[in-house]
Amino acid sequence: MSGNITFTMIKPDAVADGHIGAILGKIAEAGFTFKALKLTQLTVADAKKFYEVHAERPFYGELVEFMSSAPIVAAVLEKENAVEDFRKLIGATNPAEAAEGTIRKMFARSVGENAVHGSDSDENALIEAQFHFSGREIF
Ligand code: RTP
Ligand code: MG
Repeated sequence: MSGNITFTMIKPDAVADGHIGAILGKIAEAGFTFKALKLTQLTVADAKKFYEVHAERPFYGELVEFMSSAPIVAAVLEKENAVEDFRKLIGATNPAEAAEGTIRKMFARSVGENAVHGSDSDENALIEAQFHFSGREIF
């Protein structure tokens, strides 16, 4: 895979609130193509591992519980400058601070239940994509 990929999850809040179609539509309209896509659910162990970097943060337990509580959509996306452009598209972590028209502004419930994940570097995009998808699931 090139450096022009990012990894995303539609988090349990947005799946439960019926926003899968709208969010995938916004992603496609913004010029991203889908290299991998599935509806799945993280185990507690998966969520702990995925968010390991936040293990010392006060919200870690809540985050792990929330992310493993119900189905998510996982996807690998491709576009020039994917990581940075996708983080612009989703907006600030706290939806109250997210710009108008961003996915978090439109669909998130709160800072903890904030609708979508986006990788923060090319290196992590690759690690996260490979955490969720086998080689034969990425096109
Ligand atoms: P993400 O990794 O999910 O794309 O979000 P992000 O980069 O914008 O934010 P990050 O600092 O990596 O935090 C990861 C996720 O932890 C939850 N969080 N809760 N209660 C809180 O104060 C708090 N702060 C962060 C959010 O779900 C955030 O997306
Ligand atoms: Mg992050």
